[in-house]
Amino acid sequence: MGFSAWFSLLFAISLVLLPFSTSSSALSPKELAAISADFIDRAKKPELLDWMLGIRRKIHEHPELGYEEFETSRLIRYELDKMNVPYKYPIAVTGVVGFIGSGEPPFVALRADMDALPIEESVEWEHKSKIPGMMHACGHDAHVAMLLGAAKMLQERHHDLKGTVVLIFQPAEEGGGGAKKMVEAGVLENVDAVFGLHVTSDLPIGMAASRPGPMMAASGSFEAKIRGKGGHAAIPQHAIDPIIAASNIIISLQHLVSREADPLDSQVVTVAKIQGGDAFNVIPDSVTIAGTFRAFSDDSFNQLKDRIEEVIVKQASVQRCNATLSFRENEKPFYPVVVNDEGLHEYFLKVAGDGLGAQNIKGMSPLMGAEDFSFFRQVTRAYFFWVGMYDESKGKLERGHSPHFRINEDVLPYGAALHASLAVRYLLEHNPSESSTLKATPPHDDL
Ligand SMILES: *[C@@H]1O[C@H](CO)[C@@H](O)[C@H](O)[C@H]1NC(C)=O
Ligand SMILES: [Zn+2]
Ligand SMILES: [Zn+2]
Repeated sequence: MGFSAWFSLLFAISLVLLPFSTSSSALSPKELAAISADFIDRAKKPELLDWMLGIRRKIHEHPELGYEEFETSRLIRYELDKMNVPYKYPIAVTGVVGFIGSGEPPFVALRADMDALPIEESVEWEHKSKIPGMMHACGHDAHVAMLLGAAKMLQERHHDLKGTVVLIFQPAEEGGGGAKKMVEAGVLENVDAVFGLHVTSDLPIGMAASRPGPMMAASGSFEAKIRGKGGHAAIPQHAIDPIIAASNIIISLQHLVSREADPLDSQVVTVAKIQGGDAFNVIPDSVTIAGTFRAFSDDSFNQLKDRIEEVIVKQASVQRCNATLSFRENEKPFYPVVVNDEGLHEYFLKVAGDGLGAQNIKGMSPLMGAEDFSFFRQVTRAYFFWVGMYDESKGKLERGHSPHFRINEDVLPYGAALHASLAVRYLLEHNPSESSTLKATPPHDDL
């Protein structure tokens, strides 16, 4: 090995050992890129990987529904304690918010959701859910393990961080709007940007995908009770039939999207529940219907909401029935549209591309699914992305919310490394100069 080879080896080693120890102005694009690559390497080391696997499997065995993630939250706090990472708890019942770094601005946040689903697991494996009727079928167990993995890597070099990383472990993503409660608790105050990720089997392992602007739909649910007057099925003139009214309502609701919406403005109305009647020869007193509606702008969403109410109430009256409607906003808050910050998209392409290879960062079409990550955008710059886990050799992976859902655990290092590098490089690039007046801002502990 000649001198220049030795020199470049030493240079490479110094990058690995001190990947973010100098100020932003001193780091070249190449050095910044090395940070992303270094986190991938560190996250794949057996010691960290096995630790993340253990956490993910433990959480998988003990799934908990939204706002009931007590054991999951306890496990997170136990691990943060072991790492000497300070945190706030409880926030929004079970939420935990950790802090790594200087305690001073800038603040950049990383988010993981903790809740499971009311699904009975159908996968037979060593770490199958031990709680009947409950399962981590969306991958939030992996999200928690990834964020703890990132925390461990960040905490190992916390003195080098040019600001503060805020770790958000939130409850109740699946309908409960845990993110909204975290925002209301002030968790995002002073935070310049927040990143969130989701695992997906639609994308190969080692890849990530996202898009700038609107990515996931606004979502709401409704439930209506249609009241008529029960009676003998053979003597309809003495009854008021709510089944006919419900049928007409369901058909009329389908015209909202097909006849009133701009065909280029994606919307969905689905009636997913209908209940009424017990016998073939009795007209029931009432019928209950429930469903979901989705749209990609606040205007379209609000218009859909108003028209759903109008159609249900007025169509019921056509058949002499009365309808009462609830959007159940207390239990299931409307989720706004997930909109990715354009500037953060450019930043993501660069940071994730440096870690995974630019060819492994894909664009994507918007999805009609919803995510409560959208609430963060209302108070700060927010960015959401997908991390691939499909691997032909591991067999077919079902999509989320299936009782057959499986995680390809090889995805854990990618999620952890992307979290960590997005945070570290963000702080480097947004670090105010030493003389900055921002220094006068009180430490985050006071918040
Ligand atoms: C609907 O409400 C009106 C006004 O309260 C009432 O007079 C009528 O009986 C109700 N009809 C049904 C079918 O419940
Ligand atoms: Zn889900
Ligand atoms: Zn999910």
